[in-house]
Amino acid sequence: MTAPEILDANDPSAITDAAAILKAGELVSFPTETVYGLGADAANARAVAKIYSAKGRPSFNPLIAHLADRDAAQRQGLFNTISIALADRFWPGPLTLVVPRSSTATVSDLATAGLDSVALRVPDNAVAHALLSAFGGPVVAPSANRSGYVSATTAQHVATDLGDTVSIILDAGPTGIGIESTVVDCTGETARILRPGAVTRAAIREAIGDALIEDNSATGDIVAPGMLASHYAPNARVRLNAADVHPGEAVITISGFQPAGIEQAKAVFDLSPSGDLEEAAANLFTALRKLDEAASEGIAICPIPEAGLGEAINDRLRRAAAPRDS
Ligand code: TXA
Ligand code: MG
Repeated sequence: MTAPEILDANDPSAITDAAAILKAGELVSFPTETVYGLGADAANARAVAKIYSAKGRPSFNPLIAHLADRDAAQRQGLFNTISIALADRFWPGPLTLVVPRSSTATVSDLATAGLDSVALRVPDNAVAHALLSAFGGPVVAPSANRSGYVSATTAQHVATDLGDTVSIILDAGPTGIGIESTVVDCTGETARILRPGAVTRAAIREAIGDALIEDNSATGDIVAPGMLASHYAPNARVRLNAADVHPGEAVITISGFQPAGIEQAKAVFDLSPSGDLEEAAANLFTALRKLDEAASEGIAICPIPEAGLGEAINDRLRRAAAPRDS
């Protein structure tokens, strides 16, 4: 295993190198004021897929897109008076705003897990700001630890946890806050805390008053929409482990697998002709959206291997196929 390169973040060439690595679709770990993030080009679904595999227990939870400033954030999301008030008060800083995706958003479907909303944050850290400015686009970054481990607050934690899955670690010493950002849902007329974090509930209430709805059912990662059965399902019915195609169905396949009757399919999407599960993950949500439009009788899903990212792909597909309330 080759070790990741740990670069002194105060060296300007380290920032240039890290931005180039992001552009190339590789992963960079960088400090924020909360914890170290494991960053990828948000617009590049292949790069985003690498985050999910690097974390060790792949699941397609939506990720936070980090931006250099408010203007960049407003190109990705639609802000209302509540989100503007919160951004005014807490950005740059440890607050993440979940807002409706804007039509000019470049964050990939995989990074938002197929949702119509996007989580945005402008971090208050000089190294993060320099990297985001040099890169010039949104960078998605979960905490840079393996799934289930504590968050990484030093470059050494990151190196120990993630090894060679990350190309460069920008080392700026221990992070100041050490606990993740507060995530606030601002998609509606009122706001809700989805994940408690570095900005207290009281501080948020002070900024937006009664627009903050107290909802104590919402604590921690439990409310991660990626975990909810209903969070993303196409309109079309989804049929798993399909060996054949029924009339009116569209087909998701992999590795060039040809189910019986494929010639009469309404549409076919091969997630990865070469069977590369990172490529398949990168294509998954886009495929579901595309085929949802084409199918008249549902979407048939050919068997997907369970190895590596296959576990998360199959988990998502099982949720998409689960019985619906309505
Ligand atoms: O401090 C932090 O927030 C760190 C640093 C690196 O910025 N990042 C972080 O990211 O903690 P992550 O991926 O571990 O947490 C993302 C949280 C999850 O709780 C996820 O469910 C929520 O943000 N989230 C992301 N997109 C969302 C969306 N569209 N709707 C609702 N929640 C969303
Ligand atoms: Mg985390």
